[in-house]
Amino acid sequence: MKVLVTGGLGFIGSHTVVELQNKGFDVVIIDDCSNSDENVLEGIQAITGKKPLYEKLDLKEKHKVEDFFQRHQDVAGVIHFAASKAVGESVEKPLLYYENNIGTLVYILKELCRKTKASFIFSSSCTVYGQADKMPITEDAPIKVAESPYGNTKQMGEEIISDTCKVTPSLNAIALRYFNPMGAHPSGEIGELPKGVPQNLVPFITQTGIGLRKELSVFGDDYPTPDGTCIRDYIYVVDLAKAHVVALERLLNGKNESNYEVFNVGTGTGSSVLEAIQSFEKVSGRKLNYKIVDRRPGDITSAYADTTKANKVLGWKAEYTLEEAMNYAWIWEQKIRD
Ligand code: UD1
Repeated sequence: MKVLVTGGLGFIGSHTVVELQNKGFDVVIIDDCSNSDENVLEGIQAITGKKPLYEKLDLKEKHKVEDFFQRHQDVAGVIHFAASKAVGESVEKPLLYYENNIGTLVYILKELCRKTKASFIFSSSCTVYGQADKMPITEDAPIKVAESPYGNTKQMGEEIISDTCKVTPSLNAIALRYFNPMGAHPSGEIGELPKGVPQNLVPFITQTGIGLRKELSVFGDDYPTPDGTCIRDYIYVVDLAKAHVVALERLLNGKNESNYEVFNVGTGTGSSVLEAIQSFEKVSGRKLNYKIVDRRPGDITSAYADTTKANKVLGWKAEYTLEEAMNYAWIWEQKIRD
């Protein structure tokens, strides 16, 4: 069965391609390499023994999207990762984010609506909950006003899919709300490749550990949490990738209860920034150079998932701990700086 993975050369996309190929799916990747590298194809091949089909294509070019679906009429499912994801940049360049993340989603959905049966998996984010009132966060927690255009594209993306599914019974979709993805493949062949200075905690930790950054700034230790630093739910990227395969299979096998469903994808455990640092120090045997600085504007105090729905309905559960995921992130960092 052929599956289109947009953004399949990216961090989560590439790990998902591996899991799809391990399950026997034929994968075709679309990526514009705006935040990824074609070398990732070799990493995927080294792990799975198979190079996926790949087309360098900008999904903002509507006629190219139409042309792609004309040429690949046998695509049974689409996993849509391709999107811009830097929160700060989205504040500076809102239209770029709306065009990249919303325009492209609309073009793909239009093509899927033409099909007699289509399965669609969307990369959403726990950012849609903002600072939730209750922990852990269930899927029916209220959606809060978005803090950034990036966050807004995830909320709007979900609404666009939901509205489309309501009037298109042939379209089946699942939105996966990721908590904080991290780590790298155990093989050391693929992992996170942030361009420039990393914005996210884990790549900043490993780059500081290897000496590429002088020190990590911990954004605030005066939050109302046990150690004063923010709490997040760090989900291992291979676990997250497997959730996509399970979700896709649910749709392809017609096991979904409605034609639009939403699932949290996290571990269910919250960890503080200081705990993440400790776990790095443990797996690397190195002291991490860090200092406490002011809070980062827009950061929420705490977010971790209630994963009951994903566990029971999807039959998926995270298997790796923060420490195991950190270990793979560290192995990867050492390998790419070799
Ligand atoms: C952010 C986005 C989220 C997005 C995710 C993955 C928001 C509010 N959050 O999540 O939508 O899906 O990235 O790209 O838009 N930290 C430091 N020092 C650093 C970096 C981070 O102390 O140098 C802290 C942060 O304050 C936070 C935690 O580490 O408490 C995690 O930060 P980060 O990795 O950036 O993820 P989020 O902000 O949770």
